[in-house]
Amino acid sequence: MRVLVTGKNGQLGWELTRLQPDGAELLAFNSSELDITDSDTVSSIINQYQPDVVINAAAYTAVDKAESDQTAAYAVNETGAGNLAKACKAVSAKLIHVSTDFVFGATKNTPYDPADPTDPLGVYGASKLAGEQQVAGILGENSSIVRTAWVYSVHGNNFVKTMLRLMKEKEQLGVVSDQVGTPTSARNLAAALWKLADRMHSGETIQPVYHWSDLGTASWYDFAVAIRDEALLLGLLDKEIPVNPIFSSQYPTPAKRPAYSVLNTAALRNDLNIAGDHWRKALNSMLKELVQ
Ligand SMILES: NC(=O)c1ccc[n+]([C@@H]2O[C@H](COP(=O)([O-])OP(=O)(O)OC[C@H]3O[C@@H](n4cnc5c(N)ncnc54)[C@H](OP(=O)(O)O)[C@@H]3O)[C@@H](O)[C@H]2O)c1
Repeated sequence: MRVLVTGKNGQLGWELTRLQPDGAELLAFNSSELDITDSDTVSSIINQYQPDVVINAAAYTAVDKAESDQTAAYAVNETGAGNLAKACKAVSAKLIHVSTDFVFGATKNTPYDPADPTDPLGVYGASKLAGEQQVAGILGENSSIVRTAWVYSVHGNNFVKTMLRLMKEKEQLGVVSDQVGTPTSARNLAAALWKLADRMHSGETIQPVYHWSDLGTASWYDFAVAIRDEALLLGLLDKEIPVNPIFSSQYPTPAKRPAYSVLNTAALRNDLNIAGDHWRKALNSMLKELVQ
């Protein structure tokens, strides 16, 4: 199986690269080698390398900046996804397109199923949804959309690393407690995507849309407290700074975020035969890696 990965320097792209399975040939590109907004380059690279499966880990992910940078967000998340889908179609490649829990709005307080109605609250979520529609419209059953949430990795920028930095710099922290989701290890996500790629390549049945996160739920506040406590145990922090729950209204951001965006991940875990990790176990593994 020959797999082409976009956005190789992002959290997910990096984890996909380091988890390359035996027997899979990997062609991974960063944003300057393969800018997915450039349709000619996308089509020429995909035509040249003739991958069996493309995993799109490239995205415009600056949720707040997207509110004032709509054109750039849509260029990557919608047009870029469409460029990849068209190029895949031309060479009969399959496409795994990664999307987000932020396609959902404020309608549920139980885990979102892949078929639930979407209702993005901001530009980032809307641009990712537009990308999903491009991919599904162009490739249909030769694509699969995998929505994920609250992603972190030892590589790149994320909530875990920001919290660790702030916990070293500040005397105390206030963290939002009225937004609930599931922290997700990019490493676990990457492992699942490699299995999905294999399944697609083998021609087994797949669903048009899946959800993937680690297991369990947390508010950002719960997540921050767990980061602090685990980091203390591992010696990554030397003082237990107070972490206080605050409301979203006390921490205004340009983009509105869903109060609840837990994803029902059962379908993908069943299809791939992966039991999954509780988010706390996955967090512990990531922090242990930071210690090394
Ligand atoms: N991070 C999260 O919490 C989260 C939550 C839900 C869903 N997701 C989704 O998960 C996927 C992976 O996210 P991530 O956390 O790995 O994101 P990330 O760390 O921000 O990485 C995104 C990568 O995309 C690249 N990129 C941006 N514009 C590009 C372009 N025009 N052409 C090619 N590459 C481009 C970036 O390269 P440069 O650095 O060179 O710009 C970066 O390496 C995305 O689809 C994202 O929407 C993420």
